[in-house]
Amino acid sequence: MAKIKIKSPKEIEWIRGAGALAAETLIRAGELCKPGVSTLEIDEFIGEYTIQHGGSSACLGYNGYPKNSCISLNEVVCHGIPSAGIVLQEGDIVNIDITTILNGYHGDTSAMFKVGKVSKEAESLVNAAKECLEVGIEAAALPNARYMDIGEKIHDLADEYGYSVVQDYCGHGIGRGFHEAPTILHFRNRELNYFIEPGHVFTIEPMLNIGKYATKTLQDGWTAVTRDGSLSAQWEHTVVKTKNGIDILTLPR
Ligand code: MF3
Ligand code: CO
Ligand code: CO
Repeated sequence: MAKIKIKSPKEIEWIRGAGALAAETLIRAGELCKPGVSTLEIDEFIGEYTIQHGGSSACLGYNGYPKNSCISLNEVVCHGIPSAGIVLQEGDIVNIDITTILNGYHGDTSAMFKVGKVSKEAESLVNAAKECLEVGIEAAALPNARYMDIGEKIHDLADEYGYSVVQDYCGHGIGRGFHEAPTILHFRNRELNYFIEPGHVFTIEPMLNIGKYATKTLQDGWTAVTRDGSLSAQWEHTVVKTKNGIDILTLPR
């Protein structure tokens, strides 16, 4: 079983600080999602805004990752590399994933943005993915919740909608480290049969596909896409378990 750190109240406030800056950056980045804007322009805004507010972008240089953020369009599941050649078009659905380091602690959050008017299919997927994050948080908030309850509730809801849950990418503990123990699975499992304890800080970040759950990585070594080319959507928060439930640490102040 994973060795999961119990964070002190002080550490939790540091993570909340990083999370708030990530969330505020994310809202502003989302406002840039208009036709004709490249994902590189959005990424440069994210890098500058983060630095102006005393933080740094955790993605930059992480395992050799080249940009400040991940920006994943349509059939891109996650880890889309911002590029001048990727230009937003009316109808695109866009995930922007920002991880900010502030005062030595990480905050990790992502959200979906719509470029102009999108199809009903895209809209439904985006909304279902958001609901899946919410039911994951609710499951974690229950007294005596176990980590495997998160995946069960998310998987049940995705099944109801007829969407698949990506299995190749997971949530994670977070704090001084970007990716700490435990691994959070967003699908039904028996492995995570242990309690979520007060002071555990981790992300929930389900990815849903319209088609099959399988993904593949492109030649760039990062960009993950659906194997069948179907649309994918993801939302992410960093959260802490408390005595009373769950506190979301990636909210704007
Ligand atoms: N932010 C992603 C996550 O939710 C990780 C991105 S790692 C990067 O865990 F190197 F691709 F940036
Ligand atoms: Co993230
Ligand atoms: Co994450």
